[in-house]
Amino acid sequence: MALQVRTARDDDRQALHDLSQLAFAARPAPYDDANDRGANPLDRRLLATEGERIVGRLAVWELGQWFGGRRVPMGGVSGVAVAPDARGRGVASTLVHEAIRAMRDRGEVVSSLYPMNHTLYRRNGWEVAGSYPEQRLDLRALTPLPRPDGQVDVRPTTEADLPAIRELHEAVSREEPGNLSHGPEFGARRLLGHPGIQEGYVAEANGRLTGLLVASRTDPADDRGFYTITVLQLLAVDLASELALLRVLAAQYPVAGTVTLVTPPQSALPMLVGERDLRPADRGWCWMTRLVDAAGAIAARGYAPDVTAEVHLHLDDPVARWNTGPHVLRVKDGAGHLEPGGRGDVRLGIGRLASLYTGWASPHRLARLGLVTGADAADLAALDRVFAGRLPWSRDFF
Ligand SMILES: CC(C)(COP(=O)(O)OP(=O)(O)OC[C@H]1O[C@@H](n2cnc3c(N)ncnc32)[C@H](O)[C@@H]1OP(=O)(O)O)[C@@H](O)C(=O)NCCC(=O)NCCS
Repeated sequence: MALQVRTARDDDRQALHDLSQLAFAARPAPYDDANDRGANPLDRRLLATEGERIVGRLAVWELGQWFGGRRVPMGGVSGVAVAPDARGRGVASTLVHEAIRAMRDRGEVVSSLYPMNHTLYRRNGWEVAGSYPEQRLDLRALTPLPRPDGQVDVRPTTEADLPAIRELHEAVSREEPGNLSHGPEFGARRLLGHPGIQEGYVAEANGRLTGLLVASRTDPADDRGFYTITVLQLLAVDLASELALLRVLAAQYPVAGTVTLVTPPQSALPMLVGERDLRPADRGWCWMTRLVDAAGAIAARGYAPDVTAEVHLHLDDPVARWNTGPHVLRVKDGAGHLEPGGRGDVRLGIGRLASLYTGWASPHRLARLGLVTGADAADLAALDRVFAGRLPWSRDFF
C-alpha cells in the first residue's frame, strides 16, 4: 500500500499518542488531552499513513542551540515511532526526509536529537555532536555541603515565575556550547514542574530569581527501599544559589537514596562532593546534530574574533542535495561564510561537518579515521581553529 506523509490534524491526536506508546512504553499511558495540546503544535508533527492507518510519526520542536555565543535556529526531532509491523521498509526514513525539507523551509538551519538508534540518523546525515552529561550520586554525598553564603531563599515555583525562569535559562545557557534555547512552546511544565508529578523550586536573592530546580521521583523497587530523584532542571547564576537548591535535594536523605542530574565537568558539583562520588548514569545519552542548511548554519553561529581561515571543502549530502558540492569556508572577525565553488580540496560528509561544527570532533581525528580526506596539515589546523572551544553539552532532554 502506498505510503503518504502529511502534517497532523486535530483528530489524529489519540492515534499519534497510541503509536508513541506502542513504540516507547512498557505499559501504555492513557491519552491526556491537556498534556497533548501543551506539546508541539500540529503542523510540527509529521505522520505517515498507509490507507487510513497511521504507521509512523515524528515531531520537531522549535528550539535554538548556542554555538559561539550565538543562538542557532534548531529543529529538535523527537518521538520518531513506526508501528512494529511496518518497520524495516523505510517509513522512518521517509518521515525524516520530509522533516529535513520542512526544517529548511522554516529556517531551522540545524537539527539535533537524542538517538535511540544511531544507524537510522547517521544514514540520514546526523552525527554525534555533543554530550548529555547525566551523573548519578548517592544523596548522602550532598549532606555535608556548606550552607550558602549570603541570603538565598528557596520556595516552590508559581506560574508567575515563568518569564523570569525563561530569562534565567537563556542567561545561564548562552555561553555554554550546545545548550538549548527554548522555543515558545517548550513547555511551561518542564520549567515549573508538572503539578502533582514533579517538584519545582526557585532560588531568590535580593528580590531577583537566581536559580531553578525541577525534579521528579521514581518509586523504590520494593516497599522498604528508597525512592530515587531525577533532576530535570538545575540552573543557578552563582554558587550560593546552587548550594541552596542542592540542599533541597540533600534534605531528602535518607528517604531518597540516589539522585541523577546533568552536570558538566566544569560545574561546581564535582569539586564540591569529590569527583569519585559522581558516576555516569547508565543511559549514556549523547545527542546528534545535522546541518539542515550548511551555509545557513555556518553563518548563524559565532566564532572567536581572532580566527581568520579559508578552507576549500567538498560536501557530500545525498539526502539534502542542496548542501552537496564544492564550497569555500571563510571565517574572519567572528563571522563565518560558506559559499558554493572553490577547489573542493577537503572532502567530507554532511554528518562529519556537523560534528566539527558543534566543536565535538577533532578534524585531525576524523582525518586519521579516513572520514575527512584530501586535507593537508594547514587545512586541518584551520578547521581546528575555526571550531575549537569547550566540549558541547546539553542540559535539557526532549
Ligand atoms: C527506529 C524506528 C523508528 C525505525 O523505523 P523504520 O521505519 O523501521 O526505519 P527505516 O526502515 O526507515 O530504517 C532505515 C535504516 O535505519 C536503520 N535501522 C532502522 N531500525 C533499526 C534498528 N531497530 N536497529 C538498528 N538499525 C535500524 C537501518 O540501517 C535501516 O536501513 P536498512 O533497513 O536498509 O538496513 C522503529 O524501529 C521504531 O519505531 N522503534 C521504536 C522507537 C524508537 O526507537 N525510535 C527512535 C527514537 S530516537
